[in-house]
Amino acid sequence: MSNSRRNFIKKSLLFSATLPVLGSSFIACKNKPEKKNLSILILGGTSFLGPHQIKYALERGHKVSIFTRGKTKPNVNRAVFDKVEHLVGDRENNLSALENRKWDIVIDNSGQKASWTKATANLLKENCDLYVYTSSTGVYFPYKTGNIKEDQELLYKEPENITDENLKLEYWYGVMKANSEQETINAFGKERSIIVRPTYMFGPGDKTDRFIHWPIRLAKGGEILVPVKADDPVQYIDVRDVAEFMIRLAEQKATGTYNAVGPLKKETIFDFVTNAKKAFSTDASIVQIDDYDFLKEHKIYYLVPWIPIDEYTYGSARVNNDFSIKKGLTFRDLKASIKETHDWWYSDNLTDERRDKFEKKKDSILMQEKEIINAWKSVKKKV
Ligand SMILES: NC(=O)c1ccc[n+]([C@@H]2O[C@H](COP(=O)([O-])OP(=O)(O)OC[C@H]3O[C@@H](n4cnc5c(N)ncnc54)[C@H](OP(=O)(O)O)[C@@H]3O)[C@@H](O)[C@H]2O)c1
Repeated sequence: MSNSRRNFIKKSLLFSATLPVLGSSFIACKNKPEKKNLSILILGGTSFLGPHQIKYALERGHKVSIFTRGKTKPNVNRAVFDKVEHLVGDRENNLSALENRKWDIVIDNSGQKASWTKATANLLKENCDLYVYTSSTGVYFPYKTGNIKEDQELLYKEPENITDENLKLEYWYGVMKANSEQETINAFGKERSIIVRPTYMFGPGDKTDRFIHWPIRLAKGGEILVPVKADDPVQYIDVRDVAEFMIRLAEQKATGTYNAVGPLKKETIFDFVTNAKKAFSTDASIVQIDDYDFLKEHKIYYLVPWIPIDEYTYGSARVNNDFSIKKGLTFRDLKASIKETHDWWYSDNLTDERRDKFEKKKDSILMQEKEIINAWKSVKKKV
């Protein structure tokens, strides 16, 4: 497993027209909260998922407090932060701002250690009704099977004999999230715990420089490099669909565990690009590269939501979302999501310097694409 995979995990760690698909009663509760004026504490709030949870919660009449170190500055939905109580501390060693305080709901986004979640869940279990833990489909690593449902058995201990640093990091992340889920349930009990496992999230505010490749690239048109082997599936979800689903689950006290995974129907990366490029009026044609060795040779180790399928990643895009859809998970139109993410990227939420850091990165696929496509064409000519 490549170094870029390790960077990829590190990034994960560090980071809009909806299609109502269910009956009228659902549409009613989607548009109108069941219970107003909930007091919500978000452990985190200022990076990627948090700003979208806050915006939606405020729109639905809830009160929001956030708990951070005060270091991360939001690069999306900045206007909502005037309406939020900011508590400052550090999950590593200072939770005093949370003592003797009451909230209806706690949402834990910033858990990077199971001991952090254990500490906050035990501190808050008498003073809060529900604990919502933001986990990840990473708990299913290694993804050896398909059709992965929420009751899949998880690993709570990292295997000892792993030497590959990247594999170690994948196991560490999954095991950390699994144990953090358990700490939530140990403190709040199943009847007061909501566990949400998102897959790759993308959208306005994303700091991971993974998905943003597509809105930027597709807007330019021309020949688009797409790494794909015939039916390699992809899964991804708009961060706002996850944020809104989490707030609605909390409103409904819908305790349980949920795979927050899209799209609605099975898709390959080819389907994804074909649909996503319709967000722009530019002419674009797809150049499919279905040779993994060629891709590796040209340092294309992943292009989220596409990752190469191997013995560890077979099921990573075969996670079952039926239960979550039944419980109200909805999906924005992909074209709208891509366009809105594109417009956010070129908005004054970010600086030119920030954009150049990604768009002009020498070894980026954006910069190398033409050369790689020409190399691929000459390979194909020889065949
Ligand atoms: N991105 C994806 O595709 C993806 C996929 C699956 C799961 N996830 C999970 O989704 C969650 C989303 O995270 P997010 O970053 O977007 O959430 P967020 O709530 O928007 O931001 C995370 C916050 O944590 C705060 N924080 C970091 N270290 C802290 C500490 N020691 N003490 C107190 N606060 C601290 C940061 O603020 P300060 O720096 O100011 O403290 C930041 O506001 C993560 O748990 C991630 O594992 C992400």
